[in-house]
Amino acid sequence: MTGELSPIDKAKFVAARRAADFVEDGMRVGLGTGSTAAWLVRCLGEMVREDGLKFKGVPTSTRTAELARDVGIEVISLDEARWLDLTIDGADEFDADLNLIKGGGGALLQEKIVATASDRMVVIADIGKQVEHLGAYPLPVEVIPFGWQTTQALIEETLISMDVLGRDTTLRMNGDAPYVTDEGNYILDLHLKRIGNPRQLALVLNQMPGVVENGLFIDICDTVVLGFGDGRVELRDINEGTIEHDRLDFVESENLFTDLSD
Ligand code: A5P
Repeated sequence: MTGELSPIDKAKFVAARRAADFVEDGMRVGLGTGSTAAWLVRCLGEMVREDGLKFKGVPTSTRTAELARDVGIEVISLDEARWLDLTIDGADEFDADLNLIKGGGGALLQEKIVATASDRMVVIADIGKQVEHLGAYPLPVEVIPFGWQTTQALIEETLISMDVLGRDTTLRMNGDAPYVTDEGNYILDLHLKRIGNPRQLALVLNQMPGVVENGLFIDICDTVVLGFGDGRVELRDINEGTIEHDRLDFVESENLFTDLSD
């Protein structure tokens, strides 16, 4: 069964499986969105069903909510949880300070609200997400549909004075129509190539009236769990300044691979 998984999927799986061990009975846990987070949700569902793990999950998108319910996780809203012990989510890029670009899956707004409301944020990723400088991956910015082209023009004008290498911006599409987020907004993808000062850019973008939120997660992530295709896992904690290594056995959870759909 595991032979059908690509090395990247194996890497995502082992990162997710290792991070699932952070979840303890009684916790309130933010559940991320994306293909790596989907592995996490499947792993946690298995732990609920087979090991009796008891926790409440706060999903960061309608698709994660649906998957979590499907696999047997008790789902509550952020307002019911109020504050979370832990959030585990994927990322599109992370740098040495564990600053992130997120939102490739379009869920950055709920992801940032949930992660910020958590005692700890753990990112699960494969090595392809690691970068020296953020920005090769287009930066998603969630904008209000009203006057979005004016907001786009304002962003492009502002980028002239920012420390970035590219300034092209594109409206994210879903077929012939704009992609619409769970909150009813649009997403502009900023093709910046390299972001020299992510903290400054995040603050400047959020000053604009039409901008709801941007995909830069600065000082939010505490730990990255990095998976590799051969089962190795590396855990980097920015607060402790530690790096730990582990290895996972694929066979243990091979029943998870029977239902692959994200
Ligand atoms: C969802 O909006 C994103 O922030 C995802 O967390 C990010 O795109 C990572 O997705 P994958 O795990 O599918 O790479």
